[in-house]
Amino acid sequence: MKVAIFGAGTMGSGIAQVFSANGHTALLYATSVESAQRHKDKLAASLSKRVAKGKMTQEAADDLMSRILVEEVAAAADADLVIECVAENMAVKKELLQRLDTLCKEETVFATNTSSLSITEMAKGLMHPMVGMHFFNPVPAMKLVEVISGANTPTELVEWTKNLCVGIGKTPVVVNEAPGFVVNKILIPYCNEGVCVLQEGVASAEDIDIAMQLGCNHPMGPLHLGDLIGWDVVLNIMDVLYNETHDPKYRANVLIRKMVRAGKLGIKTGEGFFTYNK
Ligand code: 3HC
Repeated sequence: MKVAIFGAGTMGSGIAQVFSANGHTALLYATSVESAQRHKDKLAASLSKRVAKGKMTQEAADDLMSRILVEEVAAAADADLVIECVAENMAVKKELLQRLDTLCKEETVFATNTSSLSITEMAKGLMHPMVGMHFFNPVPAMKLVEVISGANTPTELVEWTKNLCVGIGKTPVVVNEAPGFVVNKILIPYCNEGVCVLQEGVASAEDIDIAMQLGCNHPMGPLHLGDLIGWDVVLNIMDVLYNETHDPKYRANVLIRKMVRAGKLGIKTGEGFFTYNK
C-alpha cells in the first residue's frame, strides 16, 4: 500500500516508520521537500542508534528507510491512504485536506491523526470520506490506535481501518467522535492535574512523578509524560476540551500556559518540568 503522510514531526515520522516496517511505502511530507528530507535523515539517525544497540539489524534499517520516500506533493495523487499529521489547527488541516481532495484519486482513504479535533468538521465539504487514526507517542513503541468514527464516517471505512491497524501490528479501539476521544479526554486532564498538584506545593516535580510511577505502576509520571507529549500539545488539547464543553474541569492550569509562552515545551526544547539533552 502507498501511504502519504503529511506532517513529518514526531508523530508523522513515527507513523511512516511503522508503515514502512510492515512492508508499505510511506511518502513523507513536510512544509518543503528539504524539510521532509531533514526529518527522514533524523529518522535514519534514530534507527542507526537502534542498530548500534543491537535492537535492529543494519539490513532491516536500510530496508525500512528504502520505503520512506520524499517526493513532490503530486506523487500523493495515487496514494491508497493519506494520513494528515499537520499542526493541530482546524484551518490548517482543512486547507491541506481540500487541496488533497482535488489531487487524490477517488479511492484514496483520508485519515487524520488529530489528537482532539472534530473529524466531522474536518471532513465537511470533502468528496473523500474521513476516519480518525490516532497514534500514540512514541509511535513505534505504543500498541494502540484509536479508530475514530465521525458523524459521516462510513461503517465499512471504520472496519477497513481496524483491519489495517492490525496489519501494522497495532491494536485498534473504535471510538465515536468526542473532544479528546478516549485517551486524551482522560490523560491530558491527568497531566494538567499533575501541574496543579505542583503549583499548590503539595510535592516536588520529582516526587509527584515518583508517586504516580511507583504508586500506580505508570511507566512515567504526569510531568515527565507532559514533557514527552509537549506542553504546547497538552495546552492545545485542554483548550479544545474546554472550548467544546465549557466544563470548568477542563480549565488549563495557568502554569502550563506560562511554560508554553516561555518555550519550555518539554523534551523537544530541552526543558519542561525537567531538563533534557537536546
Ligand atoms: N522506535 C522504536 N522503538 C522504540 C522507540 C522508537 N522511537 N521508542 C521506544 N521504543 C521501544 C524500545 O526499543 C523498547 O522496545 P525493545 O526493547 O523491544 O526494543 C520499548 O519501546 C521500551 O523503550 P525503552 O526501553 O527505550 O524505554 P522505556 O522502557 O523507558 O519505555 C516508553 C519508554 C515506551 C516511552 C515508556 O516510558 C512509556 O510507555 N511511556 C508512556 C508513553 C505514553 O503514555 N505515551 C502516550 C502519550 S499521549 C499521546 O501520544 C497522544 C497524543 O495525542 C498527545
